[in-house]
Amino acid sequence: MDLISLYPTWYEPIVGSGWVVALIATFHVLASHTSVGAALLFAYLSHKAYKEDREDLLDFIKKYGLFLLVFTYVAGSITGPGIWYSTTVASPNGIGALIHSFVWKWATEWVFFVIEVVGVYMIVYLVGKVDKKTHMKISLIFGIASLATMVIIVGILSFMMVPGKEMWFEEGGYLNGFYGTNTFAQLGMRMAFMFTMTAVVGGIIISGIKDPAFKKEMARKLGWLGIISTLIGAAMFQWYMTSVPGQAILVMENRLPDYFQASIMAVLAGTLAYFIITMLRPQVLVQGFAGAMAVIILVAGLWPEETARESMRKPWVAGQYVYSNQVVGRDVPGMDIKSQLPTIEKVGILKAHPFTPEHLKEVNNGNMIQAGEFIAMTYCSNCHSPSESGIRPLHRYFPDGITQARMEEYVRGVLTTGNIAYMPKMPMLESEVKALSAFLVMNKEGGQAAVTAAIDKEISDRDRALAIKQADDKVARLTVEQEGK
Ligand code: HEC
Repeated sequence: MDLISLYPTWYEPIVGSGWVVALIATFHVLASHTSVGAALLFAYLSHKAYKEDREDLLDFIKKYGLFLLVFTYVAGSITGPGIWYSTTVASPNGIGALIHSFVWKWATEWVFFVIEVVGVYMIVYLVGKVDKKTHMKISLIFGIASLATMVIIVGILSFMMVPGKEMWFEEGGYLNGFYGTNTFAQLGMRMAFMFTMTAVVGGIIISGIKDPAFKKEMARKLGWLGIISTLIGAAMFQWYMTSVPGQAILVMENRLPDYFQASIMAVLAGTLAYFIITMLRPQVLVQGFAGAMAVIILVAGLWPEETARESMRKPWVAGQYVYSNQVVGRDVPGMDIKSQLPTIEKVGILKAHPFTPEHLKEVNNGNMIQAGEFIAMTYCSNCHSPSESGIRPLHRYFPDGITQARMEEYVRGVLTTGNIAYMPKMPMLESEVKALSAFLVMNKEGGQAAVTAAIDKEISDRDRALAIKQADDKVARLTVEQEGK
């Protein structure tokens, strides 16, 4: 039997599956990073409280800790499994790839996470009940356990972009997959920005401090923490960009919206300005303002970052061998994994997919559109919404009045060959090319509302060849540049 490991496609009307995952993940990153940064901050403050024998610092830790307990630990513990649920249905093979390589890493992470959760309770509820030295030790263990969860997760996250070392493909081995420049650059970047988050959220706690002198002291401390970590984070981001595959840079440069760079700079500048203002005038830190700024800065900073990381990975979702549409697109001898493309080329996607309804396995005049829709859902819907709204709606890319013949030419010439750097190779039998094209033509006619002149361009063979050549040249140039470094 020529079946491959595909599962039923999860598609959420209006938003698609990608945005659901992105929304949950952004929230989770917010909660988890803030709490890891705060854990390290607590270790420092607790140490200072012990050294200088200060109650007010312990009180601050207690308040901030309680806030984390209620907000980030609850939110983090709900969104964490939320990521598992949503990615498992959105990207079963992508998650499968991670589990096959890293299941014990995850188990280790959960051990540290349990220490962390117990630790946050101890830190909050043992203030004043144990001596300051013991509290300091608890804070230290809490800080180290929190950081450990982050280090482990970042190794897995960076594998999603690219396995740590190239030889992983040939030899396997989880350390080869785990550690690489990308891991360290991403770790540095996340650690810096997690302190930024800790400082921003800390503003909410500072706003509740009554004593003006102490309020000023804490505003200064967190202000400096925020400024320094934001600047280091920005530098780490530059390093990070040198560690991603050339292909990702290409997608980044060509495919992110024009306002992306500008909006990142604006968020950075706004964040720095906010810290400077709160340092100079701690009295502006009242609860409503601090809370609103925390939400604005964090969401404005995180959403583009997570979106970019997701876009840059295209066409892969994990390890540069599982495509976003769940097809395994490359041999990985080190893991005994074989590309599924030859099977699809042989029997077609409809026959290779174990969940194709019986009446759609063979394309005929009666089921043409339906079979085409099934192919679009399977092959495209992870990256393109087949409806009006959601992520990169398909109908926007095609000119008005496009004919079946022209559509077939595009599908056959571009999509089945994998000629475009940011899209997977999607083999189809000739009958499937016809079916998908018929669906796309119909989808186009049904969904013209959102077409704008700018995207409404004819895709000619010449343009296509030019675009591919430009892309190739760019990759070549980037490779030369990188090797020159
Ligand atoms: C891995 C994700 C991914 C998959 C799967 C995918 N695409 Fe794309 N596609 C993209 C990206 C990214 C772009 C860039 C356009 C953008 O950013 O707006 C794109 C662009 C396009 C374009 C615009 C023309 C061009 O050449 O840039 C068309 C048409 C298109 N896709 C059709 C499809 C169809 C049809 C399928 C399914 C058979 C599909 N894509 C599957 C990611 C994907």
